[in-house]
Amino acid sequence: MALLLEPDTTSAHGKPPDTLIVDDEAPVRRLLGRMLEQYGYTCTLAADAREARLQLQDKEFTLILCDVNMPDESGLDLVKHVLTQYPNTAVVMVTGLDDPHIAHAALEIGAYGYILKPFQSNEVLIDIANALRRRRLEIENRAYRENLEQTIRTRTAALQQAFEWLERTEKELRLSREETIQRLAIAAEFRDNSTARHIQRMSHYCGLLARRYGLDPEHCELIRTASPMHDIGKIGTPDHVLLKPGSFTPDEFKVICQHAEIGYHILNGSEAELLKTAAIIAWTHHERFDGSGYPRGLVGEAIPLEGRIAAIADAFDALTSKRVYKPAFSLDHAVDIMREHRGTHFDPALLDVFFDSMDDVLMIRDQYTDSFS
Ligand SMILES: [Fe+2]
Repeated sequence: MALLLEPDTTSAHGKPPDTLIVDDEAPVRRLLGRMLEQYGYTCTLAADAREARLQLQDKEFTLILCDVNMPDESGLDLVKHVLTQYPNTAVVMVTGLDDPHIAHAALEIGAYGYILKPFQSNEVLIDIANALRRRRLEIENRAYRENLEQTIRTRTAALQQAFEWLERTEKELRLSREETIQRLAIAAEFRDNSTARHIQRMSHYCGLLARRYGLDPEHCELIRTASPMHDIGKIGTPDHVLLKPGSFTPDEFKVICQHAEIGYHILNGSEAELLKTAAIIAWTHHERFDGSGYPRGLVGEAIPLEGRIAAIADAFDALTSKRVYKPAFSLDHAVDIMREHRGTHFDPALLDVFFDSMDDVLMIRDQYTDSFS
């Protein structure tokens, strides 16, 4: 029997359980008190719920034996209060009411046992031992769950931080890559165009046209990011040709035409999609839909879509911008010129989409205006 009544060390720090016995019948509560004290329990007696509440204000009990029928407040109400305020308390009802509904209600609100009077001491001791064991398991279970929840919260927060760091790093890498491309492209453009805004406008026109044409977002972004390098091959064009204000001789024109091939050779051979796309654009942005372009004279859809998009964006910006050899044309004039070349220079379907997107085209133009124009 002593084994069954081994004190519950999980909550009482090795001390015998503090027990509150609540019963309006003095002989019953004294009997229970004596019985438990024989086994080392510390017992406090209360004649009703009011006295019990006063005792509870002074200290927390490990175990409460509680009558059901008492004057004023019922034992069930008291137990509800106890289990709400002190959820680590083990409660066993001790009552003369042999009513399954009340027994069920007691167990529902959290009592661990229901002992009927008159009781045998063994029966009480076994029920108490079981209640204390269950209490210890529930406390351990709750602590385990709380610990688990805390671990999950901590790891989720760490994971979230890692994701945010990755996202930041990825964004920085993307911006850095874009900026590097733009600066390289500006270096090439700077010699004859003296404006960084041309490649910004041109690349946004390309991105816009690709989107409006219905390409998937990733492809559009690739075209937008790669297109600033379309004229990178101009770094191989001598100054006396590149900067010549008048028209070119046939030989000079041949030299100019080489910038598409040179750009392609600079950019070609990479495994990176961005550079592959940039190489295609550099190589094909001067091809014409009717086959009269350079460097290879490709016709129609044999010209890669990226090159056909870049041709429209590049030409529109060249026409509407001031250059050393020409003023900026009005929008109407530029559109007229391009429309004249619909199907000869430019892919007709793409050109229609570009003109249909003119509101957004003009927003880009206004956003990246040349400071001197
Ligand atoms: Fe070019």
